[in-house]
Amino acid sequence: MQNNVKISVSGLRKDFLLKTDNKITGQFTALNDINFDIYESEFISVLGPSGCGKSTLLDILAGLSAQSAGTVCIDGEAVVGPDSKRGIVMQGYALFPWRTVRKNVEYGLELQKVPKNMRREISEKYINLVGLEKFVNYRPNELSGGMKQRVAIARALAYDPQILLMDEPFGALDAQTREVLQDELLNIWSTTQKTIVFVTHSIDEAIYLSDRVVVLSPAPGEIKRIFPINLRRPRNGVRMTMEYMQLFRDITAALHDVSVLPSQEANGSGI
Ligand SMILES: Nc1ncnc2c1ncn2[C@@H]1O[C@H](COP(=O)(O)OP(=O)(O)O)[C@@H](O)[C@H]1O
Ligand SMILES: [Mg+2]
Repeated sequence: MQNNVKISVSGLRKDFLLKTDNKITGQFTALNDINFDIYESEFISVLGPSGCGKSTLLDILAGLSAQSAGTVCIDGEAVVGPDSKRGIVMQGYALFPWRTVRKNVEYGLELQKVPKNMRREISEKYINLVGLEKFVNYRPNELSGGMKQRVAIARALAYDPQILLMDEPFGALDAQTREVLQDELLNIWSTTQKTIVFVTHSIDEAIYLSDRVVVLSPAPGEIKRIFPINLRRPRNGVRMTMEYMQLFRDITAALHDVSVLPSQEANGSGI
């Protein structure tokens, strides 16, 4: 991990207006006073309970939603809207059902008016990277959930963004497929050196993947703590280590706002 700041978030707040019968009846603070930096080529996860503002934060980083206060800077410049520096992998797959795998992956390149032969070359590279070379002409409804997620990742990578923003990308997958894709994502990350901001509500997933884990509190989302994850890489087999289990306990305790976790809870699955 290098120490150049890639994304700087400062004093970020997001309020949503509450409406009843089309009248504004109040406001709701989804994120409050969020301050942190993300380093170049870092893999950082944002972890928190449902409704704590994770997707809202990612949407603001993507430039898809405007904050109510504070700033987000990328390479020192304020974010004012989406651009091709940032690729997004949404919750769910958000693929075009009528397009083949190849055409889904080429979508962003078409928008950028990349010539056809170059589009073909680039899409092939990323389709191979996610292991879907035998399925280039399939449509989404002919693919499993894990394969659709691979297409979404290849599509985001295809226009070579510096930053990949991922919103619970593996949330809908079975445990085994999820672990396979976690390892594939780590491989892609280590070969491409992208900066990855990964939203999840899985403590295990956050620890397994990340250089650091940002723990948010329930609404209004505020940063409770940031945990550095100094586990060895590659991470295969790391789940069995004492260091991993200690981190799991500490992060669980932070998430649930208890200073010391009773040992039977730490050993069980009651989280
Ligand atoms: N467009 C919106 N209008 C009003 N409230 C919203 C809107 N989007 C999100 N919220 C609220 O903001 C909070 C955070 O939402 P979200 O960022 O989706 O949480 P998470 O991704 O952590 O589950 C939730 O209480 C949600 O209901
Ligand atoms: Mg969400």
